[in-house]
Parts: sequence; structure tokens; C-alpha cells
Amino acid sequence: VTEVLKVDPTSIDFDIQDRLTISDPITEQNLTKAAQILSKSTQIVAFPSETVYGLGGNSFNDDSIRNIYKAKNRPSDNPLISHISSISQIPRLFNVELPEIYKPLIEKFWPGPLTILIPNLPDSKISSLTTAGQSTIAIRLPSHPIARALIHLADVPVAAPSANASTRPSPTQAAHVYHDLEGKVPLILDGGPSDVGVESTVIDGLSNPPILLRPGGVSLEEIKKIGGELWKDVRVAKKLADDSDEPVKTPGMKYKHYSPTAKVILVSDESKILEYIKIHDLNDKKLALLTSQHFKGDSFDGIVDSLGRTKKEVSTNLFKLLRHLDEDLSVDYIFVESVDIADEGLAIMNRLQKAASETI
Ligand code: TXA
Ligand code: MG
Repeated sequence: VTEVLKVDPTSIDFDIQDRLTISDPITEQNLTKAAQILSKSTQIVAFPSETVYGLGGNSFNDDSIRNIYKAKNRPSDNPLISHISSISQIPRLFNVELPEIYKPLIEKFWPGPLTILIPNLPDSKISSLTTAGQSTIAIRLPSHPIARALIHLADVPVAAPSANASTRPSPTQAAHVYHDLEGKVPLILDGGPSDVGVESTVIDGLSNPPILLRPGGVSLEEIKKIGGELWKDVRVAKKLADDSDEPVKTPGMKYKHYSPTAKVILVSDESKILEYIKIHDLNDKKLALLTSQHFKGDSFDGIVDSLGRTKKEVSTNLFKLLRHLDEDLSVDYIFVESVDIADEGLAIMNRLQKAASETI
């Protein structure tokens, strides 16, 4: 059985010395229970973060990490991000100093949707299952009060992939996690919807030049601007830019991902939709169109819904609306308006290209 417990993010406070207070007793009780699962057992807990919900286990413990891979049905060569609650934990938990190159970026974007790679030294206590045998550890300090409080109370690095079943769209609310993982995890903390809506940006500052491995909540433009000289030559992992067969540095990028059961068609020219429906004889199918900045949807014979006018809104709503059309409305085909790749667009298009079986 899977228990779902409510927690209130507004009852959490961290002061400037990273001291935690929780004003709501129920939230405190539920967070304590979740933290004890992480620190005292090999079981796992789903929790909200500002990007998407995570499925957390203890990064130090092999069995805990096995339970994550098993619950998600995730390929075990795809490493996990270890989440921390304060920068001062880095030397203590990972036995390594923070590399200089990250300093301007984490000063601006932590806590927040940015994941960095640090060296995984031979004497580190991190399970080799967490890193899938890589010589680096991916770490992130999330800004969501519930995520931070949970990690703080557990006082272990919390390994957490997105809390969806492998290949499904990432969960942005507790109900999505319940849908995918009911009976497979003991506890889901429900702290309301995730605000960013896409996963964190993963960067590798240990390579020269540095690499953006996965676009996400912090944009390429922001990294270049805030990272200054150190990040001006940042290269976007080739796998994102084209279809070349360069070995994938972030193993996660090679897998089928974000896929609803419905067929997703990515559309850049609205006038092609009617023709597509005719050619593929889809008149008897249940169809939906997700618009954003330009499409009107007035001649579309099916469900029309808006992802939002700004790319920020599109990020927030994307996975939620894909799941809604798929899981609640059992739509057969979802047409989605493309966006340009500036700013949040790179992360949005990366997710849509993986979800889509075709582009028109
Ligand atoms: O926003 C997020 O990042 C969410 C929340 C829960 O924090 N987590 C998340 O985790 O999206 P996951 O496991 O779905 O994606 C982690 C990505 C994968 O693409 C994985 O291959 C990459 O990070 N990654 C993890 N460790 C790595 C490493 N040492 N080297 C290269 N890539 C790594
Ligand atoms: Mg994921």
C-alpha cells in the first residue's frame, strides 16, 4: 500500500544559517516520518521539488538505490542526482571541495533547478549504483521547502530521479506519482504542484569546454550570462543539437522518455494538421491540440487547450496537460505547437522531441 501524506511548504523556514523551523505540526510529523525512512531504512519516498516530483532514497545505500530503480523500472546504467540541503554538506558528504568553476552559477541558481557534476573520488561513500559507475556525482540543492527540509532532516544525500514510471512524462503533482507508482512506494509526500514543471539543467564543468548535458529549469542564456568568462564557451551536448551518434555523456538522454500512451505529433505549421488528419484517416479518433504562442485552433475538430502564452507557463503546464489528455481523457492523438529554442524553449523542445513520434 502507498500512503499519501499532505505537507505544507509555507510552514517551512530556513534562516540564513540554514537552521530549519516547521510551524505546522502535521507537516513536521509527516516530514519526520519520511526522513526516517530515508536515514534509517532502505525504503524510498516520493516528494515534491520545484522542478518535478522526485523518488528519493539514500545515496549511500545500495539497497535503497536498488529500490528506486525497481519501483521506476529504470535501466540501471542511468545515474541518479544526489540532492543536498546546504552547500556546506558538500565536503562532509562527498569528501570533495566544490570546483571553482561552479561558484558564480550556484551563487545565483542555488537553491534551484541546476545540477552540477563533481568528482567521485575513490574514498567517497556514495553507492556505485547511485552514480551507475561514473567517475562523477551529479548534485543539486533544490529550492522547494519540502525537499530541502526532508534532506535536512534525513542528513544524507538523497538520490532522486523523477518519480514517474520509466518512459512516462515526469510528475508535477502527487496524483501523477500515485498513478504511476501506487503499490510500489510506501510513501508520497503531497506538497502541491511543482512550479518549474521541467527537470533541472544538468551541467558538466569538469570538461573543457564545459558542457550543458540536459537543458532544464535554468536556461543556456542564463548560464552564459551569469557564468561569465568561465562559461562563455559552454557547449550543448551534441545529442541534443542533432542526431549524430556521439556517445551519450548523460546516459538518460538516450532513452525513450516523456511518452504518454497517446501519439504525440509536434507541429510547427498549424495548417498541416488538417491534412495530417485526412491522410492518416483520424476522423474516428479522439484528437487534442495543445497551443501556446501562435496557434488558434479554431478549425480543429477536437479538444483544444492552451499550454500558456509565455514559455515559462508552457514549461509549468507541459507534463500536466500531456498526462491529463492521456490519463483522464484517453485521447488517441495529441498535436502540440512547437516553440522556438530561445530561453525556456530549449528545455521544452527537448522534452517534446522525445515525447513525439512525428514532427510536421
Ligand atoms: O529536476 C530534476 O533534476 C529531478 C528532480 C527530482 O530533482 N530529477 C531528475 O532526475 O530529473 P532524473 O534521474 O530523471 O534525471 C537525471 C539526469 C539523467 O539524464 C542522468 O543521466 C543525468 O542526470 N546524470 C546523473 N548523474 C550523472 C553523471 N554522473 N554524469 C552525467 N549525467 C548524469
Ligand atoms: Mg526522469
